Amino acid sequence: MNFAIITGSSSGLGLEAAKLLLDEGWYVLGVSRSQAEFTHERFVQQKVDLSVGQEVESFFQSSFNDFIPNNIKRVALLNNAGTIDPVGPINEFSMSQLQSVYTLNLITPVWLMSHMCRQFEGIDLRVINISSGAATSAYEGWLVYCSSKAGLKMASSVLGEEEYKGLSLYDFSPGPMDTKMQHQVRSLDRERFPAIQKFLDLKADGKLVPVEEIALEILEFFAAKSPEKFVSRRYAGEQRNHYLSRFNIQD
Ligand SMILES: NC(=O)c1ccc[n+]([C@@H]2O[C@H](COP(=O)([O-])OP(=O)(O)OC[C@H]3O[C@@H](n4cnc5c(N)ncnc54)[C@H](OP(=O)(O)O)[C@@H]3O)[C@@H](O)[C@H]2O)c1
Repeated sequence: MNFAIITGSSSGLGLEAAKLLLDEGWYVLGVSRSQAEFTHERFVQQKVDLSVGQEVESFFQSSFNDFIPNNIKRVALLNNAGTIDPVGPINEFSMSQLQSVYTLNLITPVWLMSHMCRQFEGIDLRVINISSGAATSAYEGWLVYCSSKAGLKMASSVLGEEEYKGLSLYDFSPGPMDTKMQHQVRSLDRERFPAIQKFLDLKADGKLVPVEEIALEILEFFAAKSPEKFVSRRYAGEQRNHYLSRFNIQD
């Protein structure tokens, strides 16, 4: 049995990735604060606030074990949950706000990688960390989002150097996707986020990538027979037709 843990499975990319993996016969544990209405006999959804370190530790060190299927051949972790909040100038941030956002975008994904490497030692372990263009480009108003994604990207790069046994790791920047998060970006105040026009134009020009297409890239890495030990890439787009035929999916 192949087993996937997906953070942020209630909407957007996480939910699409869950659906594709289920279609391919995987057992999927989705973790987020709310639950998608979508159900499947191999899809278990668990409510955990991933911005609260104690909640994350407590779930993954105890109840998580009850969700692990028997006879696991491969385990995949999709570190996908994230937020762009808070958006605005430096003089507004509180300690509790910073702690919870860096926990969600950076500490929890790194801790989950650490926990999975311990728990599934000797098993084929695949991890995808969802990065962003914001990890390498500075946007005024996005200090916390950019720096937390940059931290996660560097964590991926270091782990890529370490080549931990059994682990295959993908630092994946999906590009602008048509999800709730993009909608939230387009609703930001121009004063607080001056780059907003770029995102309004992407939507108006039809340049947002459908989330189903990005999810295929995730499936490809998790399903690959011999994945690279470490890959760091931004989604390029030309793989779509290849994936559709490889997984026998109707366009
Ligand atoms: N959309 C884009 O253009 C874009 C571009 C580059 C990178 N990304 C990255 O792609 C990833 C997925 O985003 P998306 O676009 O699919 O956005 P989305 O539709 O808003 O999904 C975000 C997911 O994260 C979960 N989440 C947020 N806060 C959480 C918390 N405290 N605890 C647990 N789960 C939490 C949400 O679930 P609940 O609200 O139910 O908790 C939801 O399932 C993010 O890491 C984002 O930074 C997005």
